[in-house]
Amino acid sequence: MTFANFLGVAWEAAMVAGALMREHWQKPKSIDYKGAIDLVTSVDRDCERRIVEVLQNYFPNHSILAEEETNLVGTEDSHRWIIDPLDGTTNFAHSYPQFCVSIALERDGEVILGLVYDPLRGECFKAVKDEGATLNGAPVRISGVMELDKALLATGFPYDQREEADFYLSFFKAFMTRSQGIRRNGSAALDLCYVACGRIDGFWEMKLRPWDTAAGALIVEEAGGRLSDLAGNKFSIWGKETLASNGAIHDELVNTAMAATLARNSLTQS
Ligand code: IPD
Ligand code: CA
Ligand code: CA
Repeated sequence: MTFANFLGVAWEAAMVAGALMREHWQKPKSIDYKGAIDLVTSVDRDCERRIVEVLQNYFPNHSILAEEETNLVGTEDSHRWIIDPLDGTTNFAHSYPQFCVSIALERDGEVILGLVYDPLRGECFKAVKDEGATLNGAPVRISGVMELDKALLATGFPYDQREEADFYLSFFKAFMTRSQGIRRNGSAALDLCYVACGRIDGFWEMKLRPWDTAAGALIVEEAGGRLSDLAGNKFSIWGKETLASNGAIHDELVNTAMAATLARNSLTQS
C-alpha cells in the first residue's frame, strides 16, 4: 500500500465529512454538552461515523481513534488512524465559518500522513512524512518572519478556560505585549496549517488532544516549521502543550512563555 493510496482514502473520507458540514453549518444544530462549554453536535457524530465507514471499507484491519465515539483496535496493529471529525465545533454550532476535518495516519506510533480539509474555503492541507506539505496540491512553506516583534500569532483556550482564566491569560499577556497581534480562530488543526503556510508565524495552546494536532503537527514539520512544548522540549501529540512556529521565532516564543511562568510564580509567592 503506497502513501498515495492512504492519502486518496483519507481525502475520500474528508470530502464526505466536508459535504455534511457544508450542508448543515448554517442550519439549526442538535447540540449535546460534554462539559459546561464543550459542545458536540449531531453533525460531529455523523461526520465521524461516515469517516470511519470509509476507512473501514478500505482498511478493515487498521485501528481507529476518533474524538467522539471510536476507539477500535484492529487486527493489524501497526496502522492507526487518528481523527477529529469536526475541529472547531463551537464555531460550527454558531455558524461561524472556521472549522475543518482532520485525519492522520500513524504507523508504529509515528504519524506518517496528515490531511486537514476546510470545506468552506475548499482548502486541503496534506503532508507525508519526509515528502513535504501541500495546500491544494501546491507545496507550502512556513513564513520568513525572523522576530517575534514582527510576528502574527494564534492561540486557543481549552474547555476549562472559565476555571483557569488567569493561567491562560498570563501567557496571552506575555505574547500580546511582544508580537504584532494574536488571533483566536477556534480550530487548532487549521491554526497549525496556517503556521505551515505562513499565514501566521506561531501558535500555542494547552491541553490539546491527539486528534487536534496529529495531522496539523506533521503538516507544520513538513512545511519547515518547528514544534515543542512551551518549555522547548520535544513535542508529542499526547502531551499537554503545543507550541508551533516557523522555527525562526521559536526560541523567542519559548523564552516568552518561560518568562510568563516565572512572573506568575513570583506573583503567587509574594
Ligand atoms: C477545539 C478547537 C479549538 C481549541 C480547543 C479544541 P473541537 O476542538 O480546536 O480551537 O481551542 O482546545 O478542543 O472541540 O472543536 O474539536
Ligand atoms: Ca478538536
Ligand atoms: Ca472535534
